[in-house]
Amino acid sequence: MKLLITGASGLLGINLAMEAMRDHEVVGVDRGKLKSAPFQVFNADILGRDTIDPILDATQPNWLINCAAMANLEECEENPDRATFINVDVPAQLARACSERGIRFIHISTDAVFDGEKTQPYTEDDLPNPQGIYSQTKLDGEHAAFSVNPEAIVARVNFFGWSLSGRRSLAEFFVNNLSEEKYINGFTDVVFCPMLVNDTARFLLEMLQKNLSGLYHVVGAQAMNKYQFGVEIARTFGLKESHISPKSVEGSGLTARRSHNLWLSTHKLSTDLGREIPTFSTGLAEFYTQLQQGYPQKIRGYQH
Ligand SMILES: NC(=O)c1ccc[n+]([C@@H]2O[C@H](COP(=O)([O-])OP(=O)(O)OC[C@H]3O[C@@H](n4cnc5c(N)ncnc54)[C@H](OP(=O)(O)O)[C@@H]3O)[C@@H](O)[C@H]2O)c1
Repeated sequence: MKLLITGASGLLGINLAMEAMRDHEVVGVDRGKLKSAPFQVFNADILGRDTIDPILDATQPNWLINCAAMANLEECEENPDRATFINVDVPAQLARACSERGIRFIHISTDAVFDGEKTQPYTEDDLPNPQGIYSQTKLDGEHAAFSVNPEAIVARVNFFGWSLSGRRSLAEFFVNNLSEEKYINGFTDVVFCPMLVNDTARFLLEMLQKNLSGLYHVVGAQAMNKYQFGVEIARTFGLKESHISPKSVEGSGLTARRSHNLWLSTHKLSTDLGREIPTFSTGLAEFYTQLQQGYPQKIRGYQH
């Protein structure tokens, strides 16, 4: 199959491209960061007027996965109009264009659409209640995509992995700072379900292969707080967990409100694909092995 990835330089986009390349032809849309990627790159700013149709005309994909977003919560609070454009209007345009051309479309959303008040795992049937501009625009993006492309897949994700910049993911934050013997904080009151981004990519491709459609939670199997996540990383990488201080997110100085409990159920995903979600320790072990095998350096090299 031919897969087009928007946001190919992002944390998800680059890792998705790496996974998809094994079995498919990959074309990434990028604004100029990817200089020597091992897949075809189409240079474009998807916010430009009338850019989407020419990209689809030129590339003619079977599948499109939209990984482009304004995914920084603070940046969204500062630029709500731009956030709306990238997180709502662009997915709507992509979803419509894919529907018109018979291209299977996945739009990537977030676990953060929920307010975190529930004490049990959130299912796809639970009512979202966004707590800020980022999560509101992501929820609006889900609705916008489905309204013009009911056959689309919307995947609410949360992932960790190696990025092009080496600084994008929370896991890299812990590895980088602890490697330099720095003292850092880990939030004890923000619970999430992190999945290795390469596993997220594998699930997205499998969902397309199995012809699924609709809303899915594509997150890790285990809920944990961000402090615990840091400690697990420190232990796996042989770094000092004592350098991580357990702290509350309240009073941390972050402007965008974070939901305290983003424990999402993956029951629908595992049932429909007929397989278990990998455990957190399996993903973390692979994340460590990737470092030993030079994977982070390899993807960073695609910028030069
Ligand atoms: N990271 C997580 O754990 C997490 C959690 C929940 C949901 N998500 C969702 O997962 C998706 C991917 O997130 P990520 O962490 O991979 O984000 P990311 O690393 O910030 O990547 C965002 C991508 O969007 C591209 N982009 C932004 N504006 C663009 C434009 N005008 N034209 C072309 N490309 C543009 C960026 O290109 P440049 O490199 O040129 O800026 C980058 O490739 C997003 O939908 C996000 O909301 C992520």
